[in-house]
Amino acid sequence: MRDRDPLLALRPWEAPEVTSWGRLPMNAVDRRRETVPLDGDWRFQLLPSPDAPLAAAWSSTYVPGAWTVQGTDDLPQYTNVQMPFAEFPPHSPAANPTGVYEREVDVPADWAGRRIVLQVGAAESVLLVHVDGRPVGVSKDSHLAAEFDLSAVVRGGERATVRLTVVKWSDASHIEDQDQWWHGGITRSVLLYATDPLHLADVSVRASFEGGLRVDCLVRDAGGALPADWWVSGDLDGQLLVQNVEFDRANAEDDRVSDFLGEARIDAVVPEVRTWNAETPELYGLTVRLHHADGTVADTSYHRIGFRDVEIDGRDLLVNGERVYIRGVNRHDFHPLTGRTVSYDDMRADLVLLKRFGFNAIRTSHYPNDPSLYDLADELGFYVVDEADIESHDHAHEIADDPRYLNAFVDRVARMALRDKNHPSIIIWSLGNESDYGANHDAAAGWLRRHDPTRPLQYEGAAKLGWAATDDASDIACPMYAPLEDCVAHALSGRQTRPLIQCEYSHAMGNSNGTLSDHWAAIESTPGLQGGFIWEFWDHGILQSVSDGRPTGRAGAGLYDNGVAAPGHRWAYGGDFGETIHDGAFIADGVVFPDRTPKPVLFEHREIAAPLRIECCRHEGIVLGNHQHFRGLDWLNGTWELALADGRTLTAPAVLPELVPGETVAVPLPFEVPRDGGEAWLTLRVTTAEELPWAPVGTEVCAPQVRLRGPVVPEGVPVDRPVEVDGEGLLLHPLLTAAPTLSLWRAPTDNDELGGMALRWRTWGLDSLVRKAVSVRQTGQSVTVLAEYAGTGGVVRHRQELTPVEGGIRIDEEVELPDEFDDVARVGSVFETVAGLDLLEWFGQGPWESYPDRSAGAPVGHHAVPVDELFTPYLRPQESGGRHGVRRFTLSATDATGLAVALDEPRQVSVTRFRADDLTTTTHHDELAPRAGCVVHIDAAHRGLGTASCGPDTFPSYRIAPGLHRWSWTLRVL
Ligand code: GAL
Ligand code: MG
Repeated sequence: MRDRDPLLALRPWEAPEVTSWGRLPMNAVDRRRETVPLDGDWRFQLLPSPDAPLAAAWSSTYVPGAWTVQGTDDLPQYTNVQMPFAEFPPHSPAANPTGVYEREVDVPADWAGRRIVLQVGAAESVLLVHVDGRPVGVSKDSHLAAEFDLSAVVRGGERATVRLTVVKWSDASHIEDQDQWWHGGITRSVLLYATDPLHLADVSVRASFEGGLRVDCLVRDAGGALPADWWVSGDLDGQLLVQNVEFDRANAEDDRVSDFLGEARIDAVVPEVRTWNAETPELYGLTVRLHHADGTVADTSYHRIGFRDVEIDGRDLLVNGERVYIRGVNRHDFHPLTGRTVSYDDMRADLVLLKRFGFNAIRTSHYPNDPSLYDLADELGFYVVDEADIESHDHAHEIADDPRYLNAFVDRVARMALRDKNHPSIIIWSLGNESDYGANHDAAAGWLRRHDPTRPLQYEGAAKLGWAATDDASDIACPMYAPLEDCVAHALSGRQTRPLIQCEYSHAMGNSNGTLSDHWAAIESTPGLQGGFIWEFWDHGILQSVSDGRPTGRAGAGLYDNGVAAPGHRWAYGGDFGETIHDGAFIADGVVFPDRTPKPVLFEHREIAAPLRIECCRHEGIVLGNHQHFRGLDWLNGTWELALADGRTLTAPAVLPELVPGETVAVPLPFEVPRDGGEAWLTLRVTTAEELPWAPVGTEVCAPQVRLRGPVVPEGVPVDRPVEVDGEGLLLHPLLTAAPTLSLWRAPTDNDELGGMALRWRTWGLDSLVRKAVSVRQTGQSVTVLAEYAGTGGVVRHRQELTPVEGGIRIDEEVELPDEFDDVARVGSVFETVAGLDLLEWFGQGPWESYPDRSAGAPVGHHAVPVDELFTPYLRPQESGGRHGVRRFTLSATDATGLAVALDEPRQVSVTRFRADDLTTTTHHDELAPRAGCVVHIDAAHRGLGTASCGPDTFPSYRIAPGLHRWSWTLRVL
């Protein structure tokens, strides 16, 4: 029986020309009635290949779901560029996991005579449909739904057996080679629905920001020929809309009239329309009805629409005439338990979090996302770049011009646009990702430009012709990871022809996103630069049980907290499921942990995106500026906060002025700044003033800050008391278990590793410097220790002078970094403390983690954080937990005893439970054993983080030059 099956005989998994068979055209009709959900348990078996005979025994599995995380032996595999199998396109391997899903469906009795459609939300990568053993259809395009008309094979009131066969590898895998986990299964919902034979085949809405509304309907009849005298009507928030009779299907002179494809139009103008934009996403409810000649309703489609325009004017992308900044992120449909299946609540939580951290744009990297994502983007306010499911990364060049794949390129782009065209949030179409540039792209672009002239399209690969080109398949120059100086140079060159918005930048792998604020300083000051999309939202760690190495699947619900997997579990990355072909931790490169816990970079981003900013203006007080595009400040509340170095923090309510977008105003200083108190910083804490769909009242929005008075260098008065050192010149101190020594090494971040810096540091021997005291000299009560730190690449001389001062010891340090060490990780002191000092309090930047090139979002103030919460649990252990601009800190026990450190100037400090070595020698966070005491680093200089794991390194100004480095600090006992 199986060998005679025509669908199997077609072998669609190795026929790129076959994109579908028996599948209905994609459309944007949204019906709410007459549906039968088919999610739930299905009979299931996983065959070793599509040709293999069915086994007698079935198990059961839940739909929607990926079988790779549902208990089968076919586990997730992660590759970036390389294909997971050796076969060249269009071929796939003989070993080809094939899931067969089967269940009975009771077709409602009142569906007799109705048109009955099966919808499969998403299946990867080839779907074959049978009903009662009869072949119904085939579909590819793993992230879009497939619909099949079952009217001829099922009957109302009867039971039918639906079989969905899903073949994992195919010709299509070669154009779904995105940088993510490979899965197999039915990852979105399945359902049946019924309509009248006379039905809406599609609805297209155009709603402009001046209030013009046009609704185009396509009408078909299951019987073929259309009946006479059908008509359409609409309803916009309760207001009746009538069909445009000028555009009359019955007009015999109109050569658009067809016997089987009806076209009707509704035109309207909405006076005083509330326009849609990402700041104020005003939506209207539109209902479109198709009527029989007697007026009864045959079909209904529901839409939430927004009135807005998108256009490109020269090198500016305009939304409603405004040049908006694109503060974007790339987002995958990802979930740490299900792999790919995401619920409405999950997506809502993603978007709510992005709103709270100042994002206003999403690129649906690298395929059309779950349909609800776009509803949520419309509702919460995001500009969306909707991307087609095309990435042929490994064999990009060959496929881009291969005519066998032509149909697939056009099909995927067209189906995306047909499904998503009515979403106001989508302002740009994308032809896909990393697939070189060829005739197949131009064909897809041609289809799209003709079908939807209202939106620009972009394709990074087309930019190969140069950002200034005008004749390629991209209306936007959308490079990835372009050096900032190149972007600025292009914008200043006079040759810019189109907007420059990076489709990917600031790679968030591990402890990263250095120089984000430098990017935005340039973007906001350089006409022609308009923003970009951070790579990426998620760390795609899959929750794995360590004992059996399997993904937990949905059973892992609740087995993680605050970014960390529960004991016995970990966040798996490439290679953790026994794959031999994989790309390791490169899959963990998001701004949130796999459970959506924010990483510190999000606080940086929130501040960079601040809608309200302040500047210090000597004569006039403080200048406030509205940095939004469309709205005033009435949705915000403010509180002034004055932090003084002496420990005081004064607060006062702020009265926010009425400012239109772009406007500034000077206000008097809210405080009489006390003459004493030392260094002084004024912060405006800005929170939401009203209940918003994405934030309750009082949610922090930003905390812009200005310095009112500079620091005063603390002086320790020398006293007559000895300092104790051992024979090696190491300080003996009751609270220290390891004396302060020189540190030039940090546990390499992913950027350090992949950017090649860590290799150089290791070659120089910085990870294992050998210390030798050269001289220990007593001068009065001070001790001066000269030491040499020898590495394979050179010797570093370090001088430490320990002077007893009032209440403690002052430590003056100096190193001469030889020219050979021209770019080290840090220059500073490291020491370790006794156990029990579990609270860090400091005056400096915080409270979250910050580094020299990622510190714009950490205001100066008085902060207190338990030591165990200072460390950020990046999936692959690495340098973490640093705090920038620390002026002084205390480490104390519950009884308030402990130590206090005062620094000569704001320094990078870190207090963790881990030595750099502990972090370097482990591969997953769960392998780390926290030490009882604290490992404390005080750095005279700390290398910026950069983004070198994929993209530019940190700027030279954030690197450490050879030569003399001096720092000084005072250690006291509390
Ligand atoms: C880009 C690519 C992304 C991802 C990223 C690195 O080249 O488009 O899919 O691979 O680099 O994480
Ligand atoms: Mg790629």
